[in-house]
Amino acid sequence: MCGIIAYAGHQPATPIVLQGLRRLEYRGYDSAGLAFIQQGIIHSIKASGKLDALVDKTSVSSNPLLATCGMGHTRWATHGVPNEINAHPHLSNDGAFALVHNGIIENYRELKDELIAKGYVFYSETDTEVLINLIAECRKSTPDNLRAFQAAVKRAQGAFALVLLCRDEPETIYATRKSAPLLAGIGAGENFVASDVTAFLASTRRVIFLDEGDIIRITPNSYQVLSLEDLRPLEKKIHQIEWDIQSAQKGGFKHFMLKEICEQPQVLRSALAGRVDLEAGRVRLPELEGLARPSRLRIVACGTSYNAGLWASSLLEEWGRIPCVVEIASEFRYRKPILGRDELVILISQSGETADTLAAMQVARECGCATLGLCNVIGSSLAREVDRVIYTQAGPEISVASTKALCSQMALLTLLALYWGQEAGALEGDRLKKLLADFSAVADTLEKHLPKLRVDVELFSLRVAAARNVFFLGRGRNYALALEGALKLKELSYIHAEAYAAGEMKHGPIALIDPEFLTIAIAPHDELFPKTFSNIEEIAARSGPILAITENGGDKHLRGEIKWDIPPLADPFTSFAILPMLQLLSYEAASYLGKDVDQPRNLAKSVTVE
Ligand code: G6P
Repeated sequence: MCGIIAYAGHQPATPIVLQGLRRLEYRGYDSAGLAFIQQGIIHSIKASGKLDALVDKTSVSSNPLLATCGMGHTRWATHGVPNEINAHPHLSNDGAFALVHNGIIENYRELKDELIAKGYVFYSETDTEVLINLIAECRKSTPDNLRAFQAAVKRAQGAFALVLLCRDEPETIYATRKSAPLLAGIGAGENFVASDVTAFLASTRRVIFLDEGDIIRITPNSYQVLSLEDLRPLEKKIHQIEWDIQSAQKGGFKHFMLKEICEQPQVLRSALAGRVDLEAGRVRLPELEGLARPSRLRIVACGTSYNAGLWASSLLEEWGRIPCVVEIASEFRYRKPILGRDELVILISQSGETADTLAAMQVARECGCATLGLCNVIGSSLAREVDRVIYTQAGPEISVASTKALCSQMALLTLLALYWGQEAGALEGDRLKKLLADFSAVADTLEKHLPKLRVDVELFSLRVAAARNVFFLGRGRNYALALEGALKLKELSYIHAEAYAAGEMKHGPIALIDPEFLTIAIAPHDELFPKTFSNIEEIAARSGPILAITENGGDKHLRGEIKWDIPPLADPFTSFAILPMLQLLSYEAASYLGKDVDQPRNLAKSVTVE
């Protein structure tokens, strides 16, 4: 939800800002802009559309390469349509200040009225332009820029990450955050502020995670973190980030999404590393040490992360022997849930910045429940605010549509189910040992079969690309995968897709079936296969075309359908192969249709607004 990068250093700022924006484009890509100071004037260059438009415009502009301090923004529109005027940075009427902003200023209307009454003029429809003029107004009654920034920000309500450039301090950047991500990169003779580490990972891996209400001031050779409340200096730890820049690059793949799909064997290995002791047949999760066994589990998440929770809920009950309910965060936060104090609320989030998931965590807290975060981004808001965090260790996920993050979440939730089963003595005899051995073998099997899946999918994806409507069906855990399959197809190809629990088809949706309506049935040859098979027959009887994702065992039952074989894995680990099959299907269909696979329209990777 908007990406921010700011640089103060000794090198030309604009190429660094543009490179940072390139890495942040996944956060929003409907328009972009940058600002820098030259010869005592704040210059800003803005362009609507993808970042390339800004790059082109910057290259023909009047020598922006000289400035060594600057900032940039890539936008996902909240207030005002995505056009050049609404793009950030926004300048104050007097040209003395420029601001980039991620988030929403909720009380912008009243602030705007107040400023209009004082003679300020507004050119854009944004809340950001209101705040930058408020800073300019506050500057009239404060002794310096820092205090003007502090005074204005104190009046702003809502969620925001802000970076400020001041005409009379050309080598200084000010920034602050409230309920929106922002961190600082500490380099040698250069410092950064950004929404995400990937923006400056090519220059430094030393990071300061800013807390709510911190203000940071950076110059090329210094940084200082202060409390927004009273400008008291704060001590901050510098963290060393393990990710390297290669993991945030395409590495020879055409798209990040394809790269990330293909990384899943490695993601599984990394999720299990140090957590599975095959010899002893034990799961080790030090993150849970000392945590009493919960009486109930409540999983809360959004989007793909929600699907991870739904997928795992039956395993948490079957193996872990703990009742488990899964909820959508945006619903949970407002429905005044009744939670027991011995209930554990598990919040799943790749980014750790999803506003609804963070709000759900707050609700859980207020109910007195312990919270456990399953999170990919190190140092994210969720990771820092939950009682306990388990990192999913999937590495940076750049493609807007989530793929490998889900695989890692499913892997960790599987480990949690096995762990609680182990602790309760619910997995008797050698059962746990066998399950762990099967689980550990998944990565190798998947790695071996991925090249074939990538070839197979080309054929099936053409059928999908030709469809106008698609049903994804599954039962049990495969229903959660069906939801994910439909979500991916919608997100990437804009083809209308819905998921149904296969048994629900007869209660209404089957009315839509005709020779044009494609059904993708997830039907591994497990204990529910005969039931899913009957549902497939019912669709076939109504001339509905079917693509069955199945196993060899299922073949003899399925007659006229198109079949796609799942690599051989023991149940329930087949899911770790079905998942990339579904991801590849959408990826290839969307690529065939010429869609922008890594940056689908209207979406953003990190949704930091409600
Ligand atoms: C956005 C992304 C989805 C993601 C969801 C939840 O909608 O486009 O891919 O699943 O947010 O994100 P989170 O970071 O909380 O897992």
